[in-house]
Amino acid sequence: MSWIRERELNPIEKLATNILKAGPIPKHVAFIMDGNRRFARKEHMERQEGHMQGFNKLAETLRWCLHLGIREVTVYAFSIENFKRAQDEVDGLMELAKQKFVRLLEEKENLEKHGVCIRVLGDLTLLPLDLQRLIAKAVVTTRAHSKCFLNLCFAYTSRHEITNAVREMAWGVEQGLIRASDVSESLLGECLYSSNSPDPDLLIRTSGEVRLSDFLLWQTSHSCIVFQSVLWPEYSFWNLCGAILQYQFNYRSIQKARELHREEQARLQLEADCACIAEFPQHHGNGNLADPIRRQDVLLNYTTHREERTQDFLGALVHKRDTFLTDLSSQAAMA
Ligand code: FPP
Ligand code: MG
Repeated sequence: MSWIRERELNPIEKLATNILKAGPIPKHVAFIMDGNRRFARKEHMERQEGHMQGFNKLAETLRWCLHLGIREVTVYAFSIENFKRAQDEVDGLMELAKQKFVRLLEEKENLEKHGVCIRVLGDLTLLPLDLQRLIAKAVVTTRAHSKCFLNLCFAYTSRHEITNAVREMAWGVEQGLIRASDVSESLLGECLYSSNSPDPDLLIRTSGEVRLSDFLLWQTSHSCIVFQSVLWPEYSFWNLCGAILQYQFNYRSIQKARELHREEQARLQLEADCACIAEFPQHHGNGNLADPIRRQDVLLNYTTHREERTQDFLGALVHKRDTFLTDLSSQAAMA
């Protein structure tokens, strides 16, 4: 099955869509697509068939999301923990991913027409090289598209992502691009694989499991989290509407929590900048920091330089990641 399905909604689905659209619609929805194997067992089919039906459901769900006006979707397609499964299952999932990325590249024009940007979040180096190359090619081919975004978490766990972000900051300090005192919650957030996306508004896990399983732990502290008992291959348009309704019921408290968090971040950054100029007054020119006007100037100057420094560092990081993907992608063209 193809990634983009053009089918229209039926009239009753259209009506429900219009009713939901009278309220706030999440801009970004994340899915833990769980229950493929239980579905296969229930239906007496091969495990791999359960995963294939899981992919088909993803394509269908993306279409519903587009109709509902949800422009960004992130899915847990393969956890680093999944490498511990039976070898034939891991191989089957890698093979399925290869087939689907080949198909995705064949549908290039369609992706362009719909403006779909595909991103892959995770440690690609853990994957077979041919799959790494296909993924890189898909990401490079679609990176200029900006109407909707599909983030596939592949060879991903949140802890791995956060650890990697910390390593990137350590690299920045080592290279002299940033100072240790520039490390902050917001800088760490910018070093995550997900740095190009806003945090998800809604996270949905299917199959009745009520855990996050190391998925987007950093990004979902102010998201509406909905656990649904349906197995992923059986997920329906109505299940999605139910989850959106829950988001709408909780919308105000979520926005309030986000706003408080933003204010707290700004306050902490200001405190950190003040602490830096107080600790090394000699670095900030002569003059008496007890004078409030002089102190304000020094603070502004320090903040401007810190922001420039961190932007340059983040630019270097983007360049490093882009070069990695572009090199891999050109190997796919040669292979
Ligand atoms: C969880 O169900 C599902 C997975 C581990 C794989 C999800 C992958 C897909 C839906 C296909 C996506 C493919 C691409 C190329 C994006 P489970 O295996 O944990 O089933 P269970 O909970 O019933 O045991
Ligand atoms: Mg599972």
